[in-house]
Amino acid sequence: MLGKYCLLLIFSCLFAVRSSVHSRRYKPTWESIDSRPLPEWYDNSKIGIFIHWGVFSVPAKQSEWFWWDWKGLNNQKLIDYMSLYYKPNFSYAEFAPSFTAKHYNPDYWASVFKAAGARYVVLTSKHHEGFTLWPSKTSWNWNAMDIGPKRDLVGELATAIRKTDIRFGLYHSLYEWFNPLFLSDQANNFSTQLFPKTKTIPELYDLVNTYKPEIIWSDGDWNATDEYWTSKEWIAWLYNESPVKDTVVINDRWGSGIICNHGGYLTCSDRFLPGSLQQRKWENAMTLDRHSWGYVKQSTTADYLTYKEIIATLVKTISYGGNLLINVGPTAEGTLPPIMEERLRQMGNWLKANGEAIYNTQPWVYQNDTLTKDVYYTEPKYSEESSAYAIFLDWPANNHLELGAVSANGNKTEINFIGADGSYTPLVWSKRGSHIIVHLNPIISDLWGWVLVLSHVVPI
Ligand SMILES: *[C@@H]1O[C@H](CO)[C@@H](O)[C@H](O)[C@H]1NC(C)=O
Ligand SMILES: *[C@@H]1O[C@H](CO)[C@@H](O)[C@H](O)[C@H]1NC(C)=O
Ligand SMILES: *[C@@H]1O[C@H](CO)[C@@H](O)[C@H](O)[C@H]1NC(C)=O
Ligand SMILES: *[C@@H]1O[C@H](CO)[C@@H](O)[C@H](O)[C@H]1NC(C)=O
Ligand SMILES: *[C@@H]1O[C@H](CO)[C@@H](O)[C@H](O)[C@H]1NC(C)=O
Repeated sequence: MLGKYCLLLIFSCLFAVRSSVHSRRYKPTWESIDSRPLPEWYDNSKIGIFIHWGVFSVPAKQSEWFWWDWKGLNNQKLIDYMSLYYKPNFSYAEFAPSFTAKHYNPDYWASVFKAAGARYVVLTSKHHEGFTLWPSKTSWNWNAMDIGPKRDLVGELATAIRKTDIRFGLYHSLYEWFNPLFLSDQANNFSTQLFPKTKTIPELYDLVNTYKPEIIWSDGDWNATDEYWTSKEWIAWLYNESPVKDTVVINDRWGSGIICNHGGYLTCSDRFLPGSLQQRKWENAMTLDRHSWGYVKQSTTADYLTYKEIIATLVKTISYGGNLLINVGPTAEGTLPPIMEERLRQMGNWLKANGEAIYNTQPWVYQNDTLTKDVYYTEPKYSEESSAYAIFLDWPANNHLELGAVSANGNKTEINFIGADGSYTPLVWSKRGSHIIVHLNPIISDLWGWVLVLSHVVPI
């Protein structure tokens, strides 16, 4: 129908399609919010960089939950640590002046994220400590313009990122551990809404109107309901009225019981990596430092994921239909720890050669091989050909890789190996029953994790 009208009246048709997209209104119900199609750029992008940065980067001890562990849980080790190295009655707020960001160079960060192969970035605009990295009017004396850096860290990163083709997103914590307004609402069993009405929601509007982030990565929701936070009403505004209504993507952390059920894409848990396809788009938010999102000074190389672990996590995440959001924790001075930068650049090198098996792909019929361990599949999203990618993480001892999930399509099947420079080398293959055996050329390559381009194949 639409096609016919297009042929007849191409301009009015385009106009009709355009205005029907634009006039689609979402109601403040999960049913309506969940019905919004996920903007396509998000699934195609596959890889984002998460940045956990705040006053917690100053003690850089244990994790970004330092304040809560120390003062909320009265962790004895942290109490002892503080009394040993800080003056008596030193308060968490006294860390803020040391959050200098004096070596913060957002253009350099953007160049590292670009080299890493990331297509979006998500910065903690405010973590559970409540300190805002932008000059929030509702965070008096607890923001990066009034104290510490004396700079708009959010705005500067947004500007730097937008000089590249990377999309800019923001993390935002709904709750704040020790905010008196939140604690007062909590004491009233959340029958009052002083905190969301005067702090959380005004700040969310401010962030979106000022910085136009294309991802809102919500968190810190779990202690109260979506009714208390007025999440659905705010998301309806975001989807209907906001300056990013057509491209913005949100996650699923919008009130107790909402995670893994409602919103945009699903995060379900930290480091979420289900070994199967999911009903809805999901994201694996994970860390380079195994134990922390914020920078930790005590971490040693053993605490960091190896290059191989990163590639394996990336490949599994993409094969099962997820996006990878890989976290870095900058220092209080605003530098990226070199080990984090190196890991990101290593991932980027792998992607420079093998990115065609990752970006703009979708899960194949099989996500992993049925016979050989550590072989994962993807397929190009926008190709008519019966092609797939096989990514293998274990080089077979006899150089023969048997694929149990793939069979040849007559004599048309072609198999190419992607080299470290991205070039194709055609490989000989043979059949065993309905399986394919790929005859690999022994290679020496800095890149671990190898990609085969399978053309004209059929799933078994
Ligand atoms: C620390 O704070 C407590 C309680 O406010 C006070 O009694 C004590 O004198 C303070 N100690 C110092 C060394 O300031
Ligand atoms: C949130 O809820 C948990 C579990 O009910 C509780 O232990 C914690 O104190 C609450 N957090 C805050 C910031 O009140
Ligand atoms: C707190 O509120 C919840 C839900 O509104 C209710 O189920 C619960 O009984 C209340 N608890 C108290 C102690 O009032
Ligand atoms: C791979 O696929 C098979 C089914 O073909 C399944 O049994 C297995 O659990 C999958 N996952 C892994 C990690 O091998
Ligand atoms: C491929 O197979 C078809 C039919 O089985 C045959 O006609 C054709 O000659 C073969 N082509 C080559 C290049 O072997």
